[in-house]
Amino acid sequence: MERESVLRQEIVEVGRRLWQKGFVAANDGNITCRLDEDFVLTTPTGVSKGFMTPDMIVKVDMDGNTSEGYLKPSSEIFVHLMIYKERPDVQAVLHAHPPFATAFAVAGISLEHPILPEAVLHLDGVPLSPYGTPGTPELVEAIRPYIRGRNAVLLENHGAFTVGDSPLHAYYRMETLEHFAKISLLARLLGRERVLSPQEVYRLLQSRDRALVNPLCEECGICLAERTDLPGLVERITKKVMEELSKDGIGGSNRG
Ligand code: 13P
Repeated sequence: MERESVLRQEIVEVGRRLWQKGFVAANDGNITCRLDEDFVLTTPTGVSKGFMTPDMIVKVDMDGNTSEGYLKPSSEIFVHLMIYKERPDVQAVLHAHPPFATAFAVAGISLEHPILPEAVLHLDGVPLSPYGTPGTPELVEAIRPYIRGRNAVLLENHGAFTVGDSPLHAYYRMETLEHFAKISLLARLLGRERVLSPQEVYRLLQSRDRALVNPLCEECGICLAERTDLPGLVERITKKVMEELSKDGIGGSNRG
């Protein structure tokens, strides 16, 4: 099957999963993926993303003009296009309102603290971008600085964006984000969250990097050449852990 048809079907499948998992309600959410350097496939605006068919997907250029399709493109297409311009490595972008992650965004709490191996490995910490009115340039600019070095971002009082190598990859990151948010909330209800130590985080990131085919940077032997700012990531996480440890009741070591 031709690449464009495969991608259209993958977007439809991701929409179905988003709706089935309750990550979107009614007409919420949008999914895009790069077709090539000049064009992007996007979900149409104002439809349930759980019941789309491949012909409903719209092809737009990098300025958001429709090149093919009988429906209007997503109202958030300019956020997606901004992300492709800021992140040449990204092939797909996903926006949804998963309830647990969105509850953190509504409470004004980011999800950057390392409590779960999978979240550390697949998300590298999730920052919270300031509120911007949906469908406006204000939202585009609110998200821009946060998506530069991250694969998932919470949007204050709104929802979340994830990116990936394909629509399914971006979807898996949304699942991981929602799972992380749910477990973090439950742990808070139980009274405390024990954050992973910087050494534990470091070991996790090393195991992830060993599993990747990309070579390690020759200079430091730690970060991945042209892929991850590993030292920067460890520094960010260490800072966050130190903040958590200095708070009463949260963090701290429970190990003898
Ligand atoms: P669209 O249907 O226009 O993509 O918008 C849905 C949405 O969630 C806006 O934030």
